[in-house]
Amino acid sequence: MSAIRAFGPGRVNLIGEHTDYNEGLCLPFAIAAGVTVEASDGPAGTIEARALDLGETDTFALDDSGPSDGWRAFVRGTAAELQRAGHDLRSATLSIRGDVPRGSGLSSSAALEVALALALLAHSGRAEPDRRDLARLCSRVENEWVGAETGLLDQLAALCGREGHAIRIDFRSLTIDPVALDLGGFRLVTVDSGVEHSHAGSGYNDRRRECRDACAALGIASLRDARAEDATDLPEPLDRRVRHVVEENARVDAAVAALRAGDLEALGRLLDASHASLRDNYEVSVPEVEATVERLAAAGAAGARIMGGGFGGAVLALFPPGATPPDDAVAVAPGPPARVLG
Ligand code: GLA
Repeated sequence: MSAIRAFGPGRVNLIGEHTDYNEGLCLPFAIAAGVTVEASDGPAGTIEARALDLGETDTFALDDSGPSDGWRAFVRGTAAELQRAGHDLRSATLSIRGDVPRGSGLSSSAALEVALALALLAHSGRAEPDRRDLARLCSRVENEWVGAETGLLDQLAALCGREGHAIRIDFRSLTIDPVALDLGGFRLVTVDSGVEHSHAGSGYNDRRRECRDACAALGIASLRDARAEDATDLPEPLDRRVRHVVEENARVDAAVAALRAGDLEALGRLLDASHASLRDNYEVSVPEVEATVERLAAAGAAGARIMGGGFGGAVLALFPPGATPPDDAVAVAPGPPARVLG
């Protein structure tokens, strides 16, 4: 059988941060950068994987992949979770190459998981499952094989994005509504803060625990059911965590309204408000990110904020017509979702 290739995009989250695992709202889009996995026939009963950018390889048995770490955990986990879900896989040699910087907050992890899943399914002649189910499967790879308790944001953005659109995701119902990203003359860019983050090793899992503690204290199943006034009864810092989630959900719908009204200045103010809350209430910023946000504001950004899980990674900024982003800024625009390239 000839080789097939599959592509998984990275993602930008316009707004709605640390809301996905609280059954809240997010507004991401898939980007052009991503991970490509080529699959061809491999030695019987095994998967042989090559990470071309790292010059590393891994070989494991198809029926017993066993644990590992780093990029290998993603490959072993994706193969194992696909088989556990009943998708019998063929032996394969996988060549992996990507252009999303790792640990940059643009979700190189989900790009890798979805590209691996689509490549392995197509190579094995298996029909593609429902994309929401596939997103859940990829998220299990991250939760159970990599040790990061991440939500579904990145996988859904990579699998269900739409060219030219952001998608409003309601994580309670998993309803997805495309929102045209008409920016007029404005531009969205990302700038790397220079600090690499890792969800498994950062405070990300601590934030998830705090949200669970807040739910237990409030007697609710998820923070989607919390109201702003509930926060005042909670001990510090749970009160601020809840305030962030409640207000961030409201900012997502305000951002959708601003986009529909073509009010890009309002969108910029919402990005700034999201950043202030992620810094002061959710406490996921670091000094290098603050310096990057200040640099972008000084260059004339209409709004800028930390993006993704936090504790480093990239900053997203919206530049008005006439303002020039710094030299290290990378323009980002909504591209098509993950796909088999043939
Ligand atoms: C990471 C996780 C997502 C989401 C964001 C924060 O990107 O993978 O599930 O929680 O952080 O919004």
